[in-house]
Amino acid sequence: MAEKAPNRQSAGEWSARQYLKFEDERTRPPRDLLAQVPLENPKRVVDLGCGPGNSTELLIERFPAADTIGVDSSPDMLRQARERLPRCAFVEGDLATWLPEEHTDLLFGNAVFHWVPDHPKVLARLLQALPQGGVLAAQMPDNTTEPALMLMEKVAASGPWAAATARVARNDLPTPEAYYDLLRPLCRHIDIWHTNYNHLLENHAGVVEWFKGSGLRPFLAPLDAEMREQFTARYTEEIERAYSARYDGKVMLKFPRLFILAVR
Ligand SMILES: C[S@@+](CC[C@H](N)C(=O)[O-])C[C@H]1O[C@@H](n2cnc3c(N)ncnc32)[C@H](O)[C@@H]1O
Repeated sequence: MAEKAPNRQSAGEWSARQYLKFEDERTRPPRDLLAQVPLENPKRVVDLGCGPGNSTELLIERFPAADTIGVDSSPDMLRQARERLPRCAFVEGDLATWLPEEHTDLLFGNAVFHWVPDHPKVLARLLQALPQGGVLAAQMPDNTTEPALMLMEKVAASGPWAAATARVARNDLPTPEAYYDLLRPLCRHIDIWHTNYNHLLENHAGVVEWFKGSGLRPFLAPLDAEMREQFTARYTEEIERAYSARYDGKVMLKFPRLFILAVR
């Protein structure tokens, strides 16, 4: 697929409320990622792109004695995270330039790096910043060829909003092989795997609600309220055509995700 423009993370603010409508489903991948982290007693842990604190909470549960902080670029997400975990430190930062303090044992980034421009380089830089034995754990949606994502681009290209939404689609992720070649020379162990989740959503509107909290955001952000409504209506029609309802009316959303676990 042709290279697209760099992701424009700044296009539109994240909404913690919208994101958390599917908290259970969204928190399952970080649970699966954390289960593979081979650390017993880390002293310093950072949740990168901590969002509303759902992934941070998992880290605190697993490592209660660690000094855990969350980093995110969204004030709304940080506000929600601080309310949820008042004893934890949350700091505003952009992963494009952020670096961990010395002696950080775990950098955990669930569902964030695909929003960071040139993220493979950022992963390499963060891995190099870890002490020996430190762990970098990342999970990213690898779903740009799924109908739900392709249809955003289709709708974006064919309406009065085409100029405004022309350059917001996400790039495909690099292949596992490319991540391996980049990161393996920087660490002593690496594991890269995919998991396909089949999220069961109430109906087609549920699929649209899901993506309003993540992938649709950059498409809707440049539009005024009326255009947003029209865009969303067109997208909903496309989703209804592409995803057949199950026998009980629910819709199964296939969601492939890529996991990387590297030990420095
Ligand atoms: C999909 S949410 C993930 C939230 C949480 N980690 C989880 O596991 O559900 C992505 C988060 O990454 C943050 N984010 C996106 N780009 C970022 C960047 N360049 N630097 C820091 N945070 C970023 C967003 O603000 C958002 O809170």
